[in-house]
Amino acid sequence: MEKVIEVKNLSFGYNENKVFDGVNFSVDRGDYLGLVGPNGSGKSTLIKLILNIISPTKGDIFLLGHNAKHFSHWSKVGYISQKANAVNISFPATVEEILGANVCKNAWANACGGQSKAASRKTFLREKIYRALEIVGMEDYGKELIGNLSGGQQQRVFIARMLVNDPEMMFLDEPTTGIDAKSEEAVYCLLARLNREMGITIVMATHDIGAITVHANKIAYTGNKSVTVQDSGTAINEGLINDLYGYHVNFHVKKHECDSCRYRYPGKEAN
Ligand SMILES: Nc1ncnc2c1ncn2[C@@H]1O[C@H](COP(=O)(O)OP(=O)(O)O)[C@@H](O)[C@H]1O
Ligand SMILES: [Mg+2]
Repeated sequence: MEKVIEVKNLSFGYNENKVFDGVNFSVDRGDYLGLVGPNGSGKSTLIKLILNIISPTKGDIFLLGHNAKHFSHWSKVGYISQKANAVNISFPATVEEILGANVCKNAWANACGGQSKAASRKTFLREKIYRALEIVGMEDYGKELIGNLSGGQQQRVFIARMLVNDPEMMFLDEPTTGIDAKSEEAVYCLLARLNREMGITIVMATHDIGAITVHANKIAYTGNKSVTVQDSGTAINEGLINDLYGYHVNFHVKKHECDSCRYRYPGKEAN
């Protein structure tokens, strides 16, 4: 199995505040990894380290086989930051414009090299944008202002914004914060479908242990300056969770309604 993320002996701290100490783990191509842990345990920090937004104090991180420090294929890697979800989007951009602005600069040139059938750059962009919107079920909203959409719809647009570049990996940092439970489920299922049907490796930080355990195939627990990766098919390690959080965590493994996960992980039926 090809390792698309390798974290080796990683240590990191913000000044005196050590967040990780000697962390090792890897993620295989095609994994859907849920990143779970208490507030302040380092979920966002870990994603930023993997994406080389911040640098380790010690250790190395490899992304798609390259040291993250020297990685250059960023169009293959999509990212929705935690901040992106927190801001109230009121600027006057349409869904089409938001996706169009993210299409990798070289995409048209590369497509021409690869004999794109599109007649012009404009048509090419339009095709890319609407293909991505169709995948997330938002193709009827291209002309809509982003601010007019619901939280769940905005989140699907942000996912489509990553899809325009045909990414191999997607990182999402608490993408369902502030959206209702039904839309949250829809986002989880959409990601499971992208993972299953398009083979995109997904890393998602979330506070919802119950929901992510159903959809992801692996869970990475952050806390106590470490990262523990487990197969989500094994029973949820309540002892570990309570230990990391420092108190008894109440969570419910939600009813399983998503075909993409059900087919992929046939043992994980609703309970
Ligand atoms: N830019 C920063 N400067 C200093 N400390 C930070 C910064 N960002 C995060 N921290 C601290 O690092 C720890 C991990 O934070 P974070 O990665 O945001 O956790 P999580 O995403 O799991 O809530 C916390 O103690 C947090 O206060
Ligand atoms: Mg965070």
